[in-house]
Amino acid sequence: MYKSIVILTGAGISAESGIPVFRSETGLWEQEKVEEVATYEGFMRDKTKVHAFYNKMRTSLKDKKPNPAHLALAKLEKEYPQKFGGSVSLITQNIDNLHEMAGSEAPIHMHGELMSILCEHCGARYSYQEDSSVVSECAMCHHKALRPDIVWFGEMPYHMDEIQDLLVKCDLFMAVGTSGVVYPAAGFCSLARQCGATCVEFNLEKSQVASDFNYGIYGKASVTLVKAVDELLEKGTLSHQA
Ligand code: APR
Repeated sequence: MYKSIVILTGAGISAESGIPVFRSETGLWEQEKVEEVATYEGFMRDKTKVHAFYNKMRTSLKDKKPNPAHLALAKLEKEYPQKFGGSVSLITQNIDNLHEMAGSEAPIHMHGELMSILCEHCGARYSYQEDSSVVSECAMCHHKALRPDIVWFGEMPYHMDEIQDLLVKCDLFMAVGTSGVVYPAAGFCSLARQCGATCVEFNLEKSQVASDFNYGIYGKASVTLVKAVDELLEKGTLSHQA
């Protein structure tokens, strides 16, 4: 039985819901220049372009639904503690809201959220569903200083203290659909493993940090993760399936 399960998700878990991943032949970073739309410098150069980019992504979420992998994690979060005690914590690099739509209570959005906005003037972050622009006013301080609530390259991810605490205490760490290219998330497995956790990755193929894990389960998350969650909920453990 695991006392503390921590799951890290990346773009791969939402791929089967029709949201493009970042790094693949048809990935988002093949179509857009990272430095233009995912850095603060890019935002300062052309705020209108960056607002428009995230507005389009936010709008595109409207017809997206969680897939069996998101639903399996929500089920694990709810049922594992009831059945076996302990805790299940979900950290996501994703800025979509599919974990919430699947029923996850409080996923930790380390890279921010499309459905949230950040005021550069007063620092407020609040739920936001509309399009934003350079003339949108902050609901708190009324300054026209809103920016997408997204952690861009070179910025510090959210909730790092809480995440570090979870990683050092967990005994099962599962990474789902993440390429292991972007730090600090790519280093989470290494920390959890040093602290004694069993670490398993779920991906279509080996990630950049595959050797940090005890083993990997390769295939579509909608199949592999659902199977793993069923096993966890049945036996309280995960058998080596490599
Ligand atoms: N099931 C499991 N894994 C999948 C699936 C699937 N159906 N489809 C794709 N994958 C895997 C890919 O093999 C790849 O390793 O998901 C991973 C997606 O990798 P990236 O596109 O690099 O996404 P991610 O790791 O989440 O990116 C990290 O980079 O651009 C930044 O801030 C952005 O949060 C993002 C961060």
